Order: sequence, then structure tokens, then C-alpha cells
Amino acid sequence: MTNVSLPMLSLRGVGKSYGCNRVLKDFNLDIQRGEVVTLIGPSGSGKTTALRCMNFLEEYDEGEVYIGGALLGYETMPNGSRRRASERAISEVRAAAAMVFQQFNLWPHMRVIDNVTAPLTLVKGMRPDTARERAMRVLDRVGLAAKANSYPSQLSGGQQQRVGIARALAVEPQVMLMDEPTSALDPELVDEVLEVIQSLAREHMTMVMVTHEMGFAAKVSDRVAFMEGGRVVECGPPQQLFSDPVSERLRAFLRTWLSRNANNDLAAFDSVAEPGCK
Ligand SMILES: Nc1ncnc2c1ncn2[C@@H]1O[C@H](COP(=O)(O)OP(=O)(O)O)[C@@H](O)[C@H]1O
Ligand SMILES: [Mg+2]
Repeated sequence: MTNVSLPMLSLRGVGKSYGCNRVLKDFNLDIQRGEVVTLIGPSGSGKTTALRCMNFLEEYDEGEVYIGGALLGYETMPNGSRRRASERAISEVRAAAAMVFQQFNLWPHMRVIDNVTAPLTLVKGMRPDTARERAMRVLDRVGLAAKANSYPSQLSGGQQQRVGIARALAVEPQVMLMDEPTSALDPELVDEVLEVIQSLAREHMTMVMVTHEMGFAAKVSDRVAFMEGGRVVECGPPQQLFSDPVSERLRAFLRTWLSRNANNDLAAFDSVAEPGCK
């Protein structure tokens, strides 16, 4: 059970290495219930790794990740050392956090409805008819009830990602983790996915999202965290972070972004200063 008075997600001094490559270093971030936090930063700065550590798809090796106050992935021994928790304990804590992947990760040989029910019946042990009912509800939620019996290959990329979102919603997570949910999509399919995400934000779904859609980040985020070199360099409300960046590294990052996107998304930057706008 998660404790409602604590942050939904809390990362304290998290470190992660691949061999001798230390990709997360003293990563700190608290995400409150109902908050939408966006991770931005250059390629290779550790955004995906940070997100994957938030539900133990990646094993972090320093610091702590708490979901609703429960330590994720490890148990503390009486002598103060820690060891990997049992798979069952990990699953229990992780169940509160659902992931939406950049490449959708749908099972190609299964119909849309079965993609959504599988985690419910196989992982949660839900009865097939109950799972089906819930799956239809979340598919309707993302506007795809009519595609329940299609195969992923019969859907557009935007529709496939909406199924990915429905699958994540079906487990009724307390926090959604989304890794560049629109970056594998053709430009004309991006908006339909962003609209679904925005509607979740309006309903105060807690979300942590990695995105390069800076205008969108500005619109839906309560806070934006800029990462570089495996840590959060600067974090704050989008209007502050985008209009008045403190660190030179974020200034440089935004300059590069603006010069690359000079024609299409400046307007979104200008509209940042709508307080509390979602
Ligand atoms: N499975 C892995 N094995 C080894 N190195 C990895 C692995 N995943 C990521 N890395 C490395 O970790 C660093 C951070 O990667 P990543 O978290 O994917 O960054 P971002 O999402 O910000 O682009 C990169 O240097 C990348 O090469
Ligand atoms: Mg990434």
C-alpha cells in the first residue's frame, strides 16, 4: 500500500552505472500526487535510464526510489545493508507505476483487446470477463473501442501508441511513466497522442514524461526537470524554466532547440505563461 501523505515518487541520490559508465549520478526528484513532470535534456543525459529506474525496469545501484513511500527494488537488512527484494515484493511496489514506451511495445500477434487484457489476466490474475470490461473502458477512453479486434499492424502509429496508453491505464496505475511517447510517430500523428496525454493531465493523473515536444511540455507540465550528465541540473515550473533559465547549460540547450525549431514551435513557447494551464 502506498502512503498518500508522501510524494508519489521520490528519487534520492539515485546512481546507475553500466560497467564503468556512470549514467545517473546523484539524481534527485520528488513527484507529488497529481503532478505532471517532464524530463528534458540532451540525448544520452540519462532520461530513459532515470525513467526506467522509477519502476525498476533498470536496477539502480545507489540511492533510493520510493513509490508512495515504499522502497522500490531493495530491502534493508537489520545491519543496514540492502539486498534486492523478492520479485513479488518488487512487483507489488512497481504495480503503482505503469510505463508507456517510445516504440509502443505492443504484442504484434495479439489483437488490441488482448494486448490490453494480458497484463490484467496474466499479471494481476483478473478474471477474463472483468479484464475485458475494463479493457473496453480504457480503449474507449483513448477513442479506440472500435479497434478492439484489430491487430496492431492494422493501426496507425498514433493509434498503436494510444493502445499503449490504454494498456498502461488498464492497470489503474497511480503514476504513468512515458518515454518520448510521440517520437516514433510521423508528425501528423503526434497530436492525437498528445491530446490523450493532455486529457490525462487535466484529470490530474500523476505523470513523468520524457519528451522533445517542448511546446507541449510547456503546456501540460507542472514542472520541467532539465537533465544533463545523469543528474537534474534545473527544475521548476515551465514558465520559469523556459523563460528564465538559470544554468548556462540549460540556456545552451534551449538555444539549440530554438534554432532547430525556429519555424514551427515558437508560438508554443510564447504561450507558456498561462498559469496553471493544462
Ligand atoms: N542498456 C544499456 N547498456 C549500456 N549503456 C547504456 C544502456 N542504456 C543506456 N546506456 C547509456 O547510458 C547513457 C544514458 O542513456 P539514456 O538513459 O538512454 O539517455 P537519454 O534517454 O537521455 O538519451 C548513454 O551514454 C547510453 O549509451
Ligand atoms: Mg531516451
